[in-house]
Amino acid sequence: MTEIDSKRISAITAREISRFRAERPKSTALLRRAHRTMPHGVPMAWMGYFYPAGPIVVAQANGAYLTDVDGHRYLDMNLADTSMAAGYGIESVADAVDRQFRIGSQMLLPTEETIEVCEMLTDRFSLPYWQFTLSASNANMEAIRIARAQSGRDKILMFDGKYHGMLDESLHFLEDGRMLPESTGLAAHAADGTVLVQYNDLDAVERALAEEPVACILVEAAVTNVGGVILPEAGFHAGLRRLTRQYGALLILDEAHTSVCAYGGLTRTWGLEPDILVLGKALGGGIPIGIYGFTSEVRDFLQGESSNDTYSWRQRVAIGGTLFGNALQMTATKVTLDQVLTEDNHARVNKLGSLLADGIEDIVERLNLPWSAYRLYCRSGYHPATALPRNNIEMAAVHDHKLRNAIHVYLANRGVWEAIDSASPAVSFAATAPDINFYLARLEECLTELCA
Ligand SMILES: Cc1ncc(COP(=O)(O)O)c(C=O)c1O
Repeated sequence: MTEIDSKRISAITAREISRFRAERPKSTALLRRAHRTMPHGVPMAWMGYFYPAGPIVVAQANGAYLTDVDGHRYLDMNLADTSMAAGYGIESVADAVDRQFRIGSQMLLPTEETIEVCEMLTDRFSLPYWQFTLSASNANMEAIRIARAQSGRDKILMFDGKYHGMLDESLHFLEDGRMLPESTGLAAHAADGTVLVQYNDLDAVERALAEEPVACILVEAAVTNVGGVILPEAGFHAGLRRLTRQYGALLILDEAHTSVCAYGGLTRTWGLEPDILVLGKALGGGIPIGIYGFTSEVRDFLQGESSNDTYSWRQRVAIGGTLFGNALQMTATKVTLDQVLTEDNHARVNKLGSLLADGIEDIVERLNLPWSAYRLYCRSGYHPATALPRNNIEMAAVHDHKLRNAIHVYLANRGVWEAIDSASPAVSFAATAPDINFYLARLEECLTELCA
């Protein structure tokens, strides 16, 4: 078996970063100018430390491709962290958004399309009621608040390795069994409301539910923010459903990343039954959106709360925002669901996901690498070990940030944007089989050089 030498990784990374910067003089100059007005020269300081060789300044994005200000064109396999999975600049969405903007983008009132979008979501995801925010983080926050208010309990049970957005409660991780904050600036008491266990460990879930006042379990259909994917074992989601019912906690399923894996998300494909389902990202076709759907019980709770005529916010769960559920989001989401994220297109894109996984398996075999491919529809990808990880302990044991960064900057220099360290490939709805073959050829080139 071929092992990849860490000195070789460092040498190739250094060479590729120099090349990347040398070939992007306009981006470099613009970012230097931007440093005068923004931390790290970017609108979200986050971007400053996300990319192995630094960010690029984008000139335009169309379909599955990005072009930077220096004229480099990239097949985008990150898709703004899947939020643009439907494709950049979709004509039908652009036309609808243009029209809607001229007749009212945001009135703090529903339009007929708001109702149509809810009906479409119900058809697809089988949940009867819906609410909207501006991001999946907002949606998760509201779902958690509803769970707390409805259950009268405080704690949220999540899984190590998760990412559910920038919420104080969800930014902790486990190190040798101890819970630690992932970032600074979190409320000191935030950890008190958080319970973390390993994915796929139903015994640990049951112990936690028995011992702690858990309002809800917040879980991804598959863990997708760990530099690869952790798939659920058979029976894991069914076990969560059974245990949450048994212990009176709500089950919140976060499909912000995975809803594009299948028509109706993994919720429909795998027959999952959350109390609250969180969606967002790609469903807005490029217009920011967070969505959550829920059961009649949750709706009865919310509606019951606000039907009392004492006009008191203090008796209502804290949800909402001035810009949430706006008309522009609804128009964009309606067209994206209706014309892009269709059953036929999902089937086509999932074939590309299989092509990707098959191609990775071939590369691994040709190079005799101790790696494997995981299959998750359009989110299929490579894993740097022969056995797929069951949880974040197994993932962290093999996840190599240096190696990921080497691959990403190498690919960027050869026309593929795979972006950030925690990301794994994502196939755009605008991609074609030649695009996937292009990606595979570049990946093979990169791994061949790393293994040499
Ligand atoms: C599973 C999951 N949930 C929530 C979020 C947060 O989404 P947003 O950036 O729209 O707030 C993300 C973002 O990557 C995510 O992957």
